[in-house]
Amino acid sequence: MKTYRSRMAYPSAFPELVPVDASGGNTCGASTAEARIVAANRDFYREIAEKYDRYERCVSSAYLQAILDADLDKIHSSCTSLERRPQCLDCGGGTGNLALKMLARGWDVTVVDVSDEMLGVLSKKAVTRGYSPKLINNAIAQFLTTASDTFDLVAFNSVLHHLYSFARIAEMAATRVRSGGFFYSNFDPVIPKYPFRTRIFESLDIAAAKLMLDSRDFMPGIWRRTRKLFRRRDSLLSRSVVSAGDLAEYHARAGVDDAQILRVLERQGFTIVEHLKYSAGRTRAGQFLNRRLRLLENFKIIARRPI
Ligand SMILES: C[S@@+](CC[C@H](N)C(=O)[O-])C[C@H]1O[C@@H](n2cnc3c(N)ncnc32)[C@H](O)[C@@H]1O
Repeated sequence: MKTYRSRMAYPSAFPELVPVDASGGNTCGASTAEARIVAANRDFYREIAEKYDRYERCVSSAYLQAILDADLDKIHSSCTSLERRPQCLDCGGGTGNLALKMLARGWDVTVVDVSDEMLGVLSKKAVTRGYSPKLINNAIAQFLTTASDTFDLVAFNSVLHHLYSFARIAEMAATRVRSGGFFYSNFDPVIPKYPFRTRIFESLDIAAAKLMLDSRDFMPGIWRRTRKLFRRRDSLLSRSVVSAGDLAEYHARAGVDDAQILRVLERQGFTIVEHLKYSAGRTRAGQFLNRRLRLLENFKIIARRPI
């Protein structure tokens, strides 16, 4: 197994993360915000890497796993004309939810993730199964800025909402897709239609998931939420920050603008093969209720660069 571990000094070591704010200009504040969010992800996943697979619905739910398998099969059937192993980049690949499925299909896989601990879990699973993915411990933006590799598939699974400048990174990633190749993104929340109702529903769903799947963190979680009520808002990040978890999923509450990602892809000439919004939830009950209420929705995009 080739393992690249660039242990870097965070959060100050992101000179390349010269940010582009919403208006397209470079701002120092955005640079600091982006570096803090990357650092929060590193800290957050250091704490939860070992329990991630048990807690995270897109890993533990058979229904959601079947969606991922079906999507990869669809992409795989279009890659048969390549006459070589498809080369894939799993951005924020974590413990290997998607990467292991790619490897099982015989693909050549590179995983970039800012969390050494998440990659450590993936590395053990890969060794047990006899796979040799290339694991790169780095922030996606930094990897995309410094490496020039291109791929037949570039994927983000439950990652865009962790990225301060998700549209900019999707744009950079899309440039790495070869002609005839695919851009895939799944499990990111859409912008809620009813933010207040969605927030209440989501809080109940999270509390239920904690009780069922991570009961030891239930009371500490309530304590963190209580402390947040009394903590002054961080003006740069527009929220009260008590723990790394408050920043790691930076866009979880406000959602990711799927229309913006589609525009980014269309500007680069991609054909949108599939764009779907579907009901989400951390618990089965949450998912069931949500099929009617449609308060929490995720989206997925499969896009192809024409040959
Ligand atoms: C919710 S997990 C998803 C993991 C995996 N893709 C899956 O499907 O289970 C988010 C992952 O993104 C990684 N991540 C967050 N921000 C990142 C960044 N800027 N660069 C690289 N990885 C990042 C985290 O370390 C974590 O492993």
